[in-house]
Amino acid sequence: MLDREAVLGLVQEALAGVTNPRTGESVLVGGQVSGLTLDDEGKVHFQFLLKPEDAGTLVRAARAAVEAVSGVARVKIDVKLPKEAQVPGQAQPKRLAPHSVPAPTPEANIVAGIGHIVAVSSGKGGVGKSTVAANIAAALASAGHRVGLLDADIYGPDIPQMFGESRKPLVTGGKGQEKIVPLEGHGVKLMSLGFLLEPEQPAIMRGPLVSGILRQFIEQVEWGELDYLIVDMPPGTGDAQLSLVQTVNLDGALMVTTPQEVSTGDVRRAIRMFERVKTPVLGLVENMAGLTCPHCGGHVDVFGEGGGAKLAAEMGVRLIGSVPLDPEVRRAGDEGSPTAISAPDSQAGRAFRAIADLLVDIIAAAAPTGSRA
Ligand SMILES: Nc1ncnc2c1ncn2[C@@H]1O[C@H](COP(=O)(O)OP(=O)(O)O)[C@@H](O)[C@H]1O
Ligand SMILES: [Mg+2]
Repeated sequence: MLDREAVLGLVQEALAGVTNPRTGESVLVGGQVSGLTLDDEGKVHFQFLLKPEDAGTLVRAARAAVEAVSGVARVKIDVKLPKEAQVPGQAQPKRLAPHSVPAPTPEANIVAGIGHIVAVSSGKGGVGKSTVAANIAAALASAGHRVGLLDADIYGPDIPQMFGESRKPLVTGGKGQEKIVPLEGHGVKLMSLGFLLEPEQPAIMRGPLVSGILRQFIEQVEWGELDYLIVDMPPGTGDAQLSLVQTVNLDGALMVTTPQEVSTGDVRRAIRMFERVKTPVLGLVENMAGLTCPHCGGHVDVFGEGGGAKLAAEMGVRLIGSVPLDPEVRRAGDEGSPTAISAPDSQAGRAFRAIADLLVDIIAAAAPTGSRA
């Protein structure tokens, strides 16, 4: 029996491995592949946008890569030339299409009503990326900003749950014009890409899938007016991450690391990835830096101090905060009330709020008009 989702995942992987020599990017990242489908007979079908500057052999390379996937019987490619694909007024209809990868907009632009978009990223999972994202969002909201938090890391724990929300969001509007109403917790509008995905969907296809639909998804959520949209990114530097960065016009990224991770290549690679795609790294957050003793409240330096500062200096980015390892931080997350607001005067709570304040300053300094041009 053909496991369609698994095969489709492998096809996406195969396409992710085909590099356009002109751009140095995967054909998936550049939005060249769209409308990818696989039928029950094993026939793969997709559109391929071939720019005049691209070598025609690129289509052949894509075909060969897909044909090599076991489970694929036939490959049909509709080659499109840019003119045909960009007739004004013929924009692709916006639909949630869990089994296809729509072409990302070639040049990212502003999502209506959203002032600034900040990605929170890391080299690896488990470093506290979601915790930092949730606390910054909560701190910004409690300081009076209009804030949304999008969970694009569907591998990790649910961001809405960190705000005590376990309901599914409502969908309003007629067919073809559906809008998703975000949940809300502690003044933060919450949305998770996980809502789109079937729980049993194999992990292998989630990455590429997510990258293709993020922008579309952001546009379909009824955020209203937001000053800041914080995006909890999947960890790492794969095509999914790259594509996320390129399909949404980010103000920049916050990198989260831990003292143990500082010395590894993962966080460096992640920082370089953002630089390569010209997305500013707004700052480095060192999480679990030392331990706040649950008994006496004193600070214990566990892994050696100064790693984050050294890494920041070495990579030419700014260390904008250090958050201690504090059992209360985890508990607060589990209980749906981020530390930044449930214990604002604890050392961790103060650190999170200071990071949020600094972030506002850094973004304002980068975009003095307050708009993302
Ligand atoms: N500063 C901290 N102190 C204590 N626990 C933390 C801290 N930061 C994160 N955690 C806990 O570590 C685990 C991983 O954090 P999480 O934010 O889910 O990481 P990531 O999103 O990078 O995978 C969670 O259980 C979280 O509650
Ligand atoms: Mg996470």
